[in-house]
Formats: sequence, structure tokens, C-alpha cells
Amino acid sequence: MIEKSGGKGPRAPQEYGIDWDARDGELNFEDRLTDTGYIPGDQETENPLRPRTFAEYIGQDKAKENLKIYIEAAKSRKETLDHVLLYGPPGLGKTTLAGIVANELGVNLRITSGPAIEKPGDLAALLTNLSPGDVLFIDEIHRLPRTVEEILYPAMEDFALDIITGKGQMAASYHLPLPKFTLVGATTRAGQLSAPLRDRFGVVLRLELYNPRELGLIVQRSAQILNAQMEADAALELASRSRGTPRIANRLLKRVRDFAEVMSNGVITLNTAQIALERMEIDELGLDQSDRNMLTAIIKNYGGGPVGLETLAAAIGEEAVTIEDVNEPYLMQLGFLTRTPRGRCVTPAACAHLGLPLPARLRADEDLQLRME
Ligand code: ADE
Repeated sequence: MIEKSGGKGPRAPQEYGIDWDARDGELNFEDRLTDTGYIPGDQETENPLRPRTFAEYIGQDKAKENLKIYIEAAKSRKETLDHVLLYGPPGLGKTTLAGIVANELGVNLRITSGPAIEKPGDLAALLTNLSPGDVLFIDEIHRLPRTVEEILYPAMEDFALDIITGKGQMAASYHLPLPKFTLVGATTRAGQLSAPLRDRFGVVLRLELYNPRELGLIVQRSAQILNAQMEADAALELASRSRGTPRIANRLLKRVRDFAEVMSNGVITLNTAQIALERMEIDELGLDQSDRNMLTAIIKNYGGGPVGLETLAAAIGEEAVTIEDVNEPYLMQLGFLTRTPRGRCVTPAACAHLGLPLPARLRADEDLQLRME
């Protein structure tokens, strides 16, 4: 049985549950187990865990049910599916859904990302190699260079490439027809897409954070695929500490399985899960050290807020985009953080969770509210 770890000091690398083999011995202490982005080691094990059909895909009921209808209708008309934009926080299954769409349509899936397509020629090469009906998935589509975006418009709308070669008197323009295809774009920041690009998607779906019941079903399914024995209350415990994100739930499952295999008899019980999660410094609500640092800084350094994003990022040594994409969606869902035009503010619930006294401004707000009641 695993002993509860006591002190809070720096931990040995092994204690962070990092899969050293998968990263060729490269040590990176900045990795967060609750990071919603890919880290090395995800890919090999995430693939078998990835659902391939709507029947296997748990949660996102609204997006899923609508997509099923659009796919069935397109298939019965023998047309390509209209272009689809998926948006929402990272780790919720946008790539997985694109794979399912291709699978259910019975076509190929080609995967790329906004930053990987540097020049118009890169996109032209991708598009001219598609087969009719294929799904082209562009992750982080908000990061497409503007010059590339411009050749994407006619490709999406008219299935054609308009290419200009040469300069001055030697200039020539070509109109190259393309096979009909479906573009599935994914973004964590729909607000950063230009209006002309956003308007060319016929289907726009927002993915939501998962609830603990759905995440519980996801980790149970994953445990089965990984041949790991897990008790039902342990699954719920993992689910409730995975900040609404299947990618985190599956990553924690793999690490908790390590603890269960090395330190007990391999069965993931509630007790093993709780001890492993504590060792990984993930608290009962799924907050990690970075979340706690952020909330504590707002409370202790800025009187509970408001504090601007860039100031906060500098104060805690995180990237502003990480704060926006990873920390904030979950902290706001928990009701621990609010975003105001003047900056970020913590709530009394956040102070209570961290066991910190209410800053004067929040105390004054509470007094005022009591007097008005
Ligand atoms: N694994 C990751 N995301 C999943 C989902 N939404 N349903 C089932 N398994 C998953």
C-alpha cells in the first residue's frame, strides 16, 4: 500500500509521474500533468484510447447529435459535408471528432495545423493531394498566416485554387479546380478568426468542458482498453480532478496506474488514486500548483484583483496564452475567477478553497451585500 507523502518541498523527478522513456531521457520540470496540450508520451497511448465512432464517443451530446444529422444528410444527398469549425478549450477532443467525422463519412482524414502551413504553396500541396470527399483537419486554425488564409477562401467556397505566378508583365493567374473536400477547423480562440474565414464554415460547434459523470465513463473505457483494473469510486475521483478535460483524465489514469502497479497490487482503488493524485499535487478539485499560484498571487499581491492578464502572467512566470486557454476556463467554471474589463478577480469561493482570508475589497463587497439583504 502507498504511504501518504508528508512534506511539501521539492520532489524527485519520478514523483511527477513523467514518462522518462517516452521523452528520450529529456528532463523538463515545467511539464504539468494537468497541461491540456500534448506532451511527449500522449500520442502512443492516446491513440488506442481515441474513440473511432460516434457510438464510442462519450459526451458533447449537442455537437455530436447535430454532426450525426449533418453527416447522414450529406451522405444521403451524396454530397460532401459542409465545412465544420470546432472551438473550445484544448484537450476536449476536437481532433478525435474530426477523425470520427471522416470515419463516419468513409473518407480519408488529413491532419495539419495553422502554424505548420507557412506558405500558400504548403496549403496548395495539401489541397491538390486530397481525394474527393476527404476531410482536411487544420488544428489551431487561428494561427494560419494571412497569405495562406487568402488562398483558403476560394478553396473552401469554390473548390479551386487561384494562383498568381511571376511579376509585372510576366504575371499570370491560374484557376486550378480542386476535389471537393470538407475542412474541419479547430481553434481554442474563435474570437481570433477573421470574419471572412469564420463565415465560410457552414457548421460551427462549440465544445464544452465535460462533467464528472462523462469523464468517469471515459476513464472507465480507457482503463478497459489499457487492461487496468479500476474500482468505480476511483474512476469518479479521477474524473472529478480532471478539470473537465478527457486528455487530462487519460493522462492522470496512466500515472495513477503506475502508482497502483509499482506500489500496490495493480488495482486502482479510491485510496491509491487519492494518494497518487496528492503526490502529483493535484487537489480535490483538480487544481494544480500553477492554478494555486495564480489565485494566491491575485489574492496576496493584488488584493483579490482586478489585475491585468499580462501583469499576472509576469508575476507567476506563466505565458498569458496558457493562463487564458488552460487555467482560466476551469477556474471560471468552478466560480473561482471572474474576468472584468479591468482585469481578473478572484471570488470568495477561491479564498475559501485555498484557506486564505478574504482581501479587504471582497470583505467590503460581502458586507454591502449583507446590508442590502
Ligand atoms: N477518450 C478521449 N475522449 C473521449 C470521449 N469523448 N469519449 C470516449 N473516449 C474518449
